[in-house]
Amino acid sequence: MTTYDIPRPTEGDVVELILDDHRLFESLLRDLRDATADREAAREALATVLIAHGEAEEAKVYAQLNRKRAITKGEAEHGEEEHAEGNEKLLALLECKGTDTQKFDDAVEELATALNHHIGEEEQTILNPAKTEVSEQVRQELGAAWATMRNQLLDEGAGSISNVRGIVAKAHREGLLPADDEGEEK
Ligand SMILES: [Fe+2]
Ligand SMILES: [Fe+2]
Repeated sequence: MTTYDIPRPTEGDVVELILDDHRLFESLLRDLRDATADREAAREALATVLIAHGEAEEAKVYAQLNRKRAITKGEAEHGEEEHAEGNEKLLALLECKGTDTQKFDDAVEELATALNHHIGEEEQTILNPAKTEVSEQVRQELGAAWATMRNQLLDEGAGSISNVRGIVAKAHREGLLPADDEGEEK
């Protein structure tokens, strides 16, 4: 049984903090592909940190960078759409009963594809302007606000299947995901 200790920084440059989580996502995805890893534990850790990370970005980083004119409203909205897509793939992974099935492997691959695309695009179109268009002081303020919310969501068990279901249902209602898609319970 593996216990994943998710780091909980409380302050720092928001860009560095977010990049550290992106590297953590990649390492957890690698474990999810590894038949000798504790994939149950890796799935739980990834679900929790992925939801906490993305929700805190939407509430504490995207809109703030838009207000500082570092990114456009469209870029912020596109990031939210990609979070919704990733969360939908995460929900499918959480709904897999076992971890040693083809269904599980396929769900990991689909999540990896969505997530790798998103973190690449976020680093290029959102974190780059955050590095060049806002001051170090603003990056520190955003870092503290983002980390505080992320850590609170980690404490609340943000990656539980019921919470992820609720987040995906809300994304459908808000039009971030196609309305005719599956998984629209609640
Ligand atoms: Fe991110
Ligand atoms: Fe993101």
